[in-house]
Amino acid sequence: MGPRRNAVRVIAIIMVLVITSQARAADTSDRRAVSFNGDWRFAKGSQPGAEKPDFDDSQWQVVRLPHDWAISGPFNPSENGYAGKLPWKGEGWYRKTFTLDSAHSGRRVYLDFDGVMAFPKVYVNGQLAGQWDYGYMSFRVDATPFIKFGSTNVVAVHVDTRNHGTRWYPGAGIYRKVTMTICGPVHVAHWGIFATASDVSKDSAMVRVRSTIENHRDTDARIAVTTILLNPDGKPVARGGKTDVVPAGSSRDVEQSVAITDPQRWDIDNPKLYTARVIIHVDGKVVDTDATSFGIRTFEFTANDGFHLNGRRVQLHGVCLHHDQGPLGAAFYPRAMERQLEIMRDMGVNAIRTSHNPPAPELLDLCDRMGFVVWDEAFDKWDGTADRVRGEPPLEQYGEKQLRNFVMRDRNHPSIVVWSIGNELGGGGRDGVTPERVKFMSDFVRQYDPTRPVGMACHIPALAEQPNFDALDLTGWNYGRRYATYRQRYPDKPIIYSESASALSTRGFYELPLPNRKNDYSRQLQVDSYDLNAADWSDIADAEFKLMQDDRFVAGEFVWTGFDYLGEPTPFSQEAKSSYFGIVDLCGIPKDRFYLYRSYWRPETTSVHILPHWNWPDRVGRNVPVFVYTNGDSAELFLNGKSLGRRTKGEPPARPTNFAQGKPAGAGSEESGKGNLSAHANDGDIATRWCAGTADAGQWWQVDLGEVRPLRYLAIDFEREEKNYGYQIKVSTDASTWQTIVTKSTSNSPRWGGPTQVFHDVDTKARYVRIEFTQLQNGAWASIKEFAAYPEKAESSYYAPTYTYRLRWNDVLYEPGELRAVAYKDGKQIGEAVRRTAGNPAAIRLTPDRKELAATGEDLCYVLVEALDEKGTLCPLADNLIRFKVDGPAEIAGVGNGNPLSLEPFQADFRKLFFGKAMLILRTKEGPGGKIRIAAESDGLTPAEITVQCSRQPGGKVQVTR
Ligand code: GAL
Repeated sequence: MGPRRNAVRVIAIIMVLVITSQARAADTSDRRAVSFNGDWRFAKGSQPGAEKPDFDDSQWQVVRLPHDWAISGPFNPSENGYAGKLPWKGEGWYRKTFTLDSAHSGRRVYLDFDGVMAFPKVYVNGQLAGQWDYGYMSFRVDATPFIKFGSTNVVAVHVDTRNHGTRWYPGAGIYRKVTMTICGPVHVAHWGIFATASDVSKDSAMVRVRSTIENHRDTDARIAVTTILLNPDGKPVARGGKTDVVPAGSSRDVEQSVAITDPQRWDIDNPKLYTARVIIHVDGKVVDTDATSFGIRTFEFTANDGFHLNGRRVQLHGVCLHHDQGPLGAAFYPRAMERQLEIMRDMGVNAIRTSHNPPAPELLDLCDRMGFVVWDEAFDKWDGTADRVRGEPPLEQYGEKQLRNFVMRDRNHPSIVVWSIGNELGGGGRDGVTPERVKFMSDFVRQYDPTRPVGMACHIPALAEQPNFDALDLTGWNYGRRYATYRQRYPDKPIIYSESASALSTRGFYELPLPNRKNDYSRQLQVDSYDLNAADWSDIADAEFKLMQDDRFVAGEFVWTGFDYLGEPTPFSQEAKSSYFGIVDLCGIPKDRFYLYRSYWRPETTSVHILPHWNWPDRVGRNVPVFVYTNGDSAELFLNGKSLGRRTKGEPPARPTNFAQGKPAGAGSEESGKGNLSAHANDGDIATRWCAGTADAGQWWQVDLGEVRPLRYLAIDFEREEKNYGYQIKVSTDASTWQTIVTKSTSNSPRWGGPTQVFHDVDTKARYVRIEFTQLQNGAWASIKEFAAYPEKAESSYYAPTYTYRLRWNDVLYEPGELRAVAYKDGKQIGEAVRRTAGNPAAIRLTPDRKELAATGEDLCYVLVEALDEKGTLCPLADNLIRFKVDGPAEIAGVGNGNPLSLEPFQADFRKLFFGKAMLILRTKEGPGGKIRIAAESDGLTPAEITVQCSRQPGGKVQVTR
């Protein structure tokens, strides 16, 4: 055994002494829940014999939980980016040696795992003590039969992700906390307290607390159970008592109902938490005490008026969040989550969807405490992504096992308002939805919690034609107003827009000219941050704002996604490793979109944000459009002091003349029975259309512009996605000689969705324009909703809503200097924003998110790293390589810069800036604390240095209580 190993042993023993001395100091019957995160050893791969207590692990890596072995990489550049190009697939082993004082003998010892990716097998002193499958689920292992009191014990955990299915980066290892719970043989069961409130009014509420009590003795236990309710200030406000007998080796539910007067209700604005404390006496002695926090509130999802909380309508401004924490991977640190929620809160978010799996329990504690409502999701699909390998075990068995833990663990959280049993399941097949499967999955949930609605995120409107979703209390629908069919069929059932937007952007990246379709993506493998791009199947933020404004029966939206995440890098799925969907980048730096949401979701809070940056040396004298995101209703823009005019929301600019509108049209055939006449293709009304009389290709539509016109830009709006139509556009000056100016064929990509509009840049003169259909696919008929012919480029009508939610100066001619926006609301100036042209990078700036940290080994400090020019202006294009040095009780937990393409390691002491910024994440060391000195340097830049304080006191500590 090497000296390092000895040191580890000593620390481990000190920790155990702490545990045991605490246990002795209290009543020996008291329960202890101690962190089991420290002093593990880890090795990747199959390690024959590693479960055995005497196995030699001295060469293994010393790790502290939470731990994600795959996040350190290396990235595999040639792998598709769907799961982050990281090496998450494989086997790994964890071992921990500890001693338990003999004073504990006769007590129960449980190991509570919050999440192990995946298929963990837990060995205690060489014997298999428990195992689980689903990598996102919490589970308990009863170690009691295998523990040696008064001696050394070894826990070994085998982890195997090879059979885990995923559509994003899942991580690998013991990536959430582990707790050791030691308690007497008569005790409150795991997740054994269930507190609910009913008959809630301003004046009173009835609180029911059901406690499950286990008796592991071999004689019956006569128990007296006392339940004390503490109000949000910690004062006891009600008490109840009951006696019962728990037979040997069995359990009993004890239920007590107590009335509370003047309840302090839990709300998103004022999240008040009560505590239910349960004390068990046997023979007049306390044998166990356990507690849970809970909330008193009412809520309802209505069919016609959305979501109501404590009697008032609350529009859900939600985001979907995947589980990873960017550069930290799947490793769950409460502070990382708290920071994510702080950023989301600042943007105006009041609802979180835990897509698509059960979260770490601390996420729910934080939502309870900070005031978010939660759509808590059990599964993505019911197949390999739920760790049901090739359909085994049967869904009935598996569903109940997982849903039991899911609901039992989380049902006291007032933040949770929906239990979701899945996301975007297909119909039928081995693992898809059927009415029966949806019913038994929903019923399992209700069996453990009848107080909340059961829902699911759906995406195939046709599945609503059958009774597939009848067993659900509500449905969520993903994208493109797909809830419309369901709404028609089930007007009495509540609806949530469970995924909206899926808009795309790269922080700091702008490309001109602006895209004119949502899927006109840059060739540079980044997505333009003018916020005009979305995935094929989805829409830009503004389109969804409008929908939510129009469809008040919908409870609100959950944007896909609040933060970028590892994996699923649509639209550059092969090349990139992390998503472009986030409103905030992978390391928590807001993109422009953040301010668009903030402006709309927080109308009373001042936001004035200008984009793009103002460093365009190659475009002097050329067009650089400027957008302003503000909660104001108008703003005036100044460039170097000169006004570029005032813009007001809801006032779109004039469009160029459409030469085709209202002109005589004709067609090869018309579906006249349905009134789909040729004149409808150029009547200026998007709601009407021309359709051919038959389904075959070879149909044509034609317009006579009345005279020869200069044509630069043709726009066609189709009934379906434009990919379904192949055609030629021909022009003529005399209707006898025709020239083909456009040939377009059908395509099969993307798989779903895609725009319904097409634009053709042309340069011709013509009086007659004819569209001849050559190919039709997916059942499309030759049909046109609107055809337009312009003498110059015109913006797609798709972007019309952007003029409602943003202020746009489309025609700015670039000159370096200062851009200033002054925003107004109701005629009053509310604020301003400035962008300046920066010179060359000259210095580094470090900005920590907090200056007081806790020496817990799990507290984090996020340090924003930026480049400034000589005058202190941010350099928006800087990509300097920055090197870090950290002294004191902290270490580098990760580095990142939000670049989806970057394959630089996340665990390193260097990082390149990406569009002027990067993030350094520090993790404190457990111990006495001290000053942490953080230095950053880069060739040619003035270095920077800051210090933050780390202390044992709870000063900067993340307080997560349950
Ligand atoms: C949805 C799906 C999400 C994510 C998203 C990307 O259809 O539910 O998990 O894949 O698309 O737009």
